Amino acid sequence: MTQIVTVPTQPFEGQAPGTSGLRKKVKVFQQPGYAENFIQSVFDVVERGAGAVLVIGGDGRFHNRTVIQQAIRMAAANGYARVLVGQGGILSTPAASHVIRKYGASGGLVLSASHNPGGPDEDFGIKYNISNGGPAPEGVTGAILERTKVIDRWLTVEADDVDLDALGEVQVGAMTVQVLDPVADYADLMEELFDFDAIRKAVASGFTMRMDSMSAVTGPYAVEILERRLGFAPGTVVNAVPLEDFGGHHPDPNLIHARELYDLMMSDEAPDIGAASDGDGDRNLIIGRGRFITPSDSLAMLAANIEIAPAYRGRLAGIARSMPTSAAADRVAEALGIPCFETPTGWKFFGNLLDAGKVTICGEESAGAGSDHVREKDGLWAVLLWLNILAVRGISVDALAKEHWARHGRNYYARHDYEGIETAGASALMDGLKAQLAGLPGRSFGPQVVSHADSFSYTDPVDGSVSANQGVRVLFEDGSRIVFRLSGTGTQGATLRVYLERYEPRSGNLDAETGAMLEPQIAAAEAIAEIVRHTGRTAPDVIT
Ligand code: G6P
Ligand code: ZN
Repeated sequence: MTQIVTVPTQPFEGQAPGTSGLRKKVKVFQQPGYAENFIQSVFDVVERGAGAVLVIGGDGRFHNRTVIQQAIRMAAANGYARVLVGQGGILSTPAASHVIRKYGASGGLVLSASHNPGGPDEDFGIKYNISNGGPAPEGVTGAILERTKVIDRWLTVEADDVDLDALGEVQVGAMTVQVLDPVADYADLMEELFDFDAIRKAVASGFTMRMDSMSAVTGPYAVEILERRLGFAPGTVVNAVPLEDFGGHHPDPNLIHARELYDLMMSDEAPDIGAASDGDGDRNLIIGRGRFITPSDSLAMLAANIEIAPAYRGRLAGIARSMPTSAAADRVAEALGIPCFETPTGWKFFGNLLDAGKVTICGEESAGAGSDHVREKDGLWAVLLWLNILAVRGISVDALAKEHWARHGRNYYARHDYEGIETAGASALMDGLKAQLAGLPGRSFGPQVVSHADSFSYTDPVDGSVSANQGVRVLFEDGSRIVFRLSGTGTQGATLRVYLERYEPRSGNLDAETGAMLEPQIAAAEAIAEIVRHTGRTAPDVIT
């Protein structure tokens, strides 16, 4: 019998799981007992029976291997029967979700700070996913937080590090650790969902792409699926080797951080489609030749065409989008006569809807889209669905977008981020907005009249749980909208997100420049929220 070691500890402040788990600087996680306290708090509160299986994997960022070894020893001391860990400590977030579901695990530890930079001075994160493969819902994250406040011991065993690079099984105490191929199960799943033959035919007839894996986790997945299984030319996947510091970049697939891809797609050398994914592989960026597709539009366009893919034929039950995501998807749902759900920001809110079969596809403005195949958003899944649609329809990204807008109208959309602002100013801005809500309806800002304003509150239609205070919405009579929200994923100061949307009907101006179209909304946002006064900034740091 391996001896279980009980290590006395004291609570650390601020171990509240945010939008997507506990995210802090690596230096914070390196404090003795910090990661252990959080992991033990998870093990103390989550549901699991005898013989429970735990999945562990991460995006390969700096500190990943250290925390994996800690977590393996602690899992052994806490009575898990088996740990499944990706080779090299790697599992993309959607692949982890799939592995949890496929092998009937009671849950998983997903080690990532998503699109945040990595390295000794950058970010790290730990997220717990439940047995459906999705992020723990608020009931669970709340219990974890309460536990972190009173924790006084954590459990471990004395055991050597597991060789994470060698496939196969080893014992750690009474527990079995299986190091598995992180790519195979996921690639097989993608092959079941999509028409790989149709994509291969398109590739053989000259369809080209570039996939930027941003030196993050999707590299090995994208090389296997796009180059080996679908036949895209070697080199189609760039930045394909996951690096601990992502090559010093932000592995965030947006127009700022994936600039090279954007420039290529706007040039004469552009392939048919350009795509990118983030640190842990759950986000996606789609750019056609000369045409950027906003994540909100991508959700709507994918939903409108999803039944082309074999696994979705005849079974689109409903669509869900996060509140700040544009209403483009709502128009598709309306046209198809299916429901569209509006949830708070954070993929965890889609879990119940997917489990209950109420929705088949979900998406968020923050570059996430996914379906009921796993319980996370899935970057490569979105790319493959685009490829499947384009291959079968023989249409370009630009032509598909134009056709979509001509049918449904266009929701011009942008998000303005003010990063690393002072927490006090950010709170004052949000408080100021909330204080004004009752007086806004009926007021005019430029050409627009406010029709409704509120602080968004969500009642989960499946379990009745209520999540209040999820962002301030200001809706205008002409269908445009401004949303103000503080980010739940930052690790320094506060980040204000201002989401701007303007609807142009089918008969309207469908091919204009987004910034110009949104000028009235930008001016109204400043007038309502006094962004300059509260943040000291005269312009956003990032526009996506
Ligand atoms: C993570 C979650 C997403 C969510 C996003 C919002 O990526 O997985 O579901 O949309 O965070 O981040 P924010 O910084 O806006 O809270
Ligand atoms: Zn991510």
